[in-house]
Amino acid sequence: MKRLFFIAVFWFVFAFVLTGVALAEDAEATFELPIGTMTLEAPQDTGYKATLSSVNFPHSLHFSYSCQACHHKWDGTGPIKSCGTSGCHENFWAPKPGQADVSENSVKSLVGAYHQACRDCHRNEADRQKAAGSKSIVTGPVACTGCHPDPHSQVENSDETLTIPLGIINIEAPEEVEATRGAVGFPHGLHFKYACKDCHHDWDGESEVEACDSCHSETKPSGSRNIKDEANQMYYLAAYHNACITCHRDTDKKRREAEAVKAADLPKAAPVNCKGCHSKS
Ligand code: HEC
Ligand code: HEC
Ligand code: HEC
Ligand code: HEC
Ligand code: HEC
Ligand code: HEC
Ligand code: HEC
Repeated sequence: MKRLFFIAVFWFVFAFVLTGVALAEDAEATFELPIGTMTLEAPQDTGYKATLSSVNFPHSLHFSYSCQACHHKWDGTGPIKSCGTSGCHENFWAPKPGQADVSENSVKSLVGAYHQACRDCHRNEADRQKAAGSKSIVTGPVACTGCHPDPHSQVENSDETLTIPLGIINIEAPEEVEATRGAVGFPHGLHFKYACKDCHHDWDGESEVEACDSCHSETKPSGSRNIKDEANQMYYLAAYHNACITCHRDTDKKRREAEAVKAADLPKAAPVNCKGCHSKS
């Protein structure tokens, strides 16, 4: 009996330690974000002989979009797979002229996928900006030689990356503030269906990412206590609450609207009340 008890305690402690380790790892999980220019070309093993020059793709010029605008199968937590991964756009080129541009697994060829994703977005962006009356159009190339220059451009394949936290970031009040609420555990990776620049609105896509309160560093409201007051823009609490709660309320509203019409695709719930974000301690 006694022995059984010890075994049970042993397993309990052991399981506890294991979970502890798993949680610690989760909180420290990161991934490497390539920020330089990559050169896209036919995979070496297909034996395909390229007719045009390879394509230089400046990754970081595209971070005003959600990562999932392109990495449409990424869940925001696991590793990001290359577009040509087996089971995805593994067929580099459409089989024969006239045949449908899909492989046996009915996934579009890699070239088809690239042309659709890259060129269509560049074209749509130009149309959208023209329709909005912009004088200068900011978009990527649409013409063949814009992406496949003649003569060849340099192969770039920069290996510069930034380390991005995926797990829970603990956001605390600045030291000078006598906190009245517990710190906020912010699940960073759960928010990657939004563009990085939705929150890191001053980021250029390549430099180190600055903490919000390195700019929003005022520890007291300057104007009224109203966080919407423009004089409070640099008050750290206004920046966080305006960013976090505004979007969560919006999400909550969409969720209730979807519920009301019994839509099949209900948006995930995002906390709107104090305890949903602030720990009890
Ligand atoms: C405009 C499209 C686009 C957007 C937006 C985009 N990427 Fe990419 N990304 C690519 C392409 C294309 C590649 C090259 C993939 C390949 O080689 O198959 C790539 C490669 C990567 C890789 C390397 C994958 C590998 O094969 O090792 C990572 C990691 C990555 N992107 C993360 C991100 C993250 C995080 C975001 C959001 C900040 C993002 N990307 C936004 C198009 C995009
Ligand atoms: C969702 C929209 C979108 C997608 C998808 C997209 N782009 Fe772009 N791309 C843009 C926009 C917008 C710009 C202009 C960004 C800027 O200059 O700030 C741009 C810029 C570029 C530029 C730089 C042009 C210059 O003048 O320096 C290149 C090259 C480019 N894209 C290639 C690609 C390639 C290759 C792909 C596919 C792998 C791709 N883009 C996918 C929207 C997109
Ligand atoms: C927005 C960028 C973009 C534009 C514009 C574009 N392509 Fe591509 N193209 C790519 C990418 C990315 C690939 C895949 C990588 C590679 O093979 O270089 C590709 C691959 C190809 C390939 C297969 C590889 C080869 O060299 O044989 C052909 C053929 C091709 N493109 C033809 C064209 C033609 C013709 C046009 C103009 C009608 C065009 N592309 C416009 C991005 C573009
Ligand atoms: C969507 C997440 C979120 C929600 C919901 C939220 N907060 Fe916050 N709050 C934050 C973040 C992030 C900070 C900045 C980090 C910190 O100071 O703990 C913060 C800071 C604060 C601070 C200043 C620091 C302190 O502890 O004194 C107060 C006060 C505060 N919140 C009160 C509230 C109250 C009251 C509610 C409910 C009406 C609420 N918060 C709801 C995210 C949230
Ligand atoms: C919903 C808002 C939001 C989105 C979307 C978001 N982040 Fe963050 N990120 C934050 C907050 C809040 C912090 C915590 C730092 C702070 O309190 O200032 C943070 C921290 C970081 C850090 C660590 C900064 C440091 O101080 O060490 C990096 C790097 C980062 N984010 C990059 C990204 C990238 C890349 C993306 C896009 C894939 C992204 N973030 C998307 C809100 C966001
Ligand atoms: C490099 C400095 C800097 C960083 C870093 C920064 N901000 Fe800002 N932020 C500003 C400035 C300046 C403004 C006011 C002017 C503007 O809109 O750009 C502002 C405006 C805002 C606004 C709108 C304020 C209002 O009252 O309408 C919000 C919300 C906000 N920031 C949240 C954040 C969050 C959240 C982060 C971190 C993820 C962050 N900011 C990081 C400088 C910064
Ligand atoms: C642009 C919209 C947006 C912004 C900005 C945003 N969130 Fe969220 N948040 C969401 C959505 C949507 C979910 C639900 C995601 C899911 O469950 O997949 C969520 C979920 C959460 C959760 C709950 C996670 C869980 O396990 O249920 C917390 C906590 C949270 N956000 C905190 C924050 C904090 C703190 C900030 C500000 C630093 C913030 N969020 C900014 C949209 C946003």
